[in-house]
Amino acid sequence: MKGYAFPGGREVAVVERPTPSPGPGEVLIKSGTSSVCGSDLHGYRAPKQDRAPFAAVVSGHEPVGEVVAVGDGVAWPTVGERVVVYHVGGCGECGSCHERDYKACPGATEPDNSMTFGRDGSNADHVLVPAGQVLPLPEDFSYPEGSVLSCNFGTAWGAVRNAFSFPGGTLAVWGLGPVGLNCVLIARALGMKVIGVDISEGRREVAEGVGATVVDGARSDVVEAVRSVTGGDGPDAIIDTTGVGAVHAILVSAVKPRGTVVLVGLGHETSVGPVPEVVLKQVTIKGSWLYDVADWPEMLDFVRQHEIDLMTTVDKVVPIAEFETMLKEADAASAGKIVFTW
Ligand SMILES: NC(=O)c1ccc[n+]([C@@H]2O[C@H](COP(=O)([O-])OP(=O)(O)OC[C@H]3O[C@@H](n4cnc5c(N)ncnc54)[C@H](O)[C@@H]3O)[C@@H](O)[C@H]2O)c1
Ligand SMILES: [Zn+2]
Ligand SMILES: [Zn+2]
Repeated sequence: MKGYAFPGGREVAVVERPTPSPGPGEVLIKSGTSSVCGSDLHGYRAPKQDRAPFAAVVSGHEPVGEVVAVGDGVAWPTVGERVVVYHVGGCGECGSCHERDYKACPGATEPDNSMTFGRDGSNADHVLVPAGQVLPLPEDFSYPEGSVLSCNFGTAWGAVRNAFSFPGGTLAVWGLGPVGLNCVLIARALGMKVIGVDISEGRREVAEGVGATVVDGARSDVVEAVRSVTGGDGPDAIIDTTGVGAVHAILVSAVKPRGTVVLVGLGHETSVGPVPEVVLKQVTIKGSWLYDVADWPEMLDFVRQHEIDLMTTVDKVVPIAEFETMLKEADAASAGKIVFTW
């Protein structure tokens, strides 16, 4: 099979290897779609020395396709099933893994359990995954919609859940890429007032089009500008999808007293603060990673009930052969989400 790897330094490497056969408990999926995520760009942009151990590992973690073979002991899925892969995996042996709560497994962040690092990912003709990480994709969702659900929409779902214990209130979303824009769509469907902040005018325009009040993230008075939209106090919750240190530094100032800051963006090892302000404003700071496997049916029902257009964040659906050119576009953040097809 043919796949695409990230050796670092903004390069793409084509890798060829025999199509794998599923071992016990494993499932082989023929790729239907896979898409570019902000998280892929970290691997693409990483220095070559950092990517050296993973230079020939297939990239991609938003796989959708058809099951073509299953290993011993797999009761579900069966061959022919349309499926999505839940890309966070674990050791496969601990209590959390048995409950499919992979994010709580101590091994969840080990390279060996992570696509694009120790495991081949979805930017290849086939992808091999443990059966527990496979989720059904009903016929009323297309393959590209499945890729959006698998990571970006699901991440946004988890983040909005972490931002509010009850519906209502005002949400600010910092960063309006595919993850942030899906946060806007979900919060608007729940009837919340949403403020969208981004340094990209194009991304602000899209968010405005789906009901957000937008603020330019490059403004030196961005905190005051966000607060003024709420009448002065600040939003009840903020979700950060930028992962940028300069933003982390101002989130606590921007949120309302007793408010919640949800961290989603990755990429920089910076801190949220300052601590006296966190304490005195009684701010809750939470990290949010993907969604729970158990949320999948409810998430799909939510999309159906609110008639959410999952393709809002998708700019291009293109053949996988255009991988290298499309990564350059994604790197420049000139496009929305890019979905590859086979
Ligand atoms: N926690 C999770 O489960 C999870 C899952 C998927 C992705 N991610 C991470 O979430 C982030 C967002 O993913 P994405 O695909 O939407 O990425 P993206 O790169 O397309 O979006 C990030 C957005 O932040 C904006 N931005 C950058 N600096 C800013 C600033 N100073 N002020 C305001 N906006 C600014 C950019 O213009 C861009 O539109 C990435 O860091 C990704 O790694 C986390
Ligand atoms: Zn992703
Ligand atoms: Zn485990």
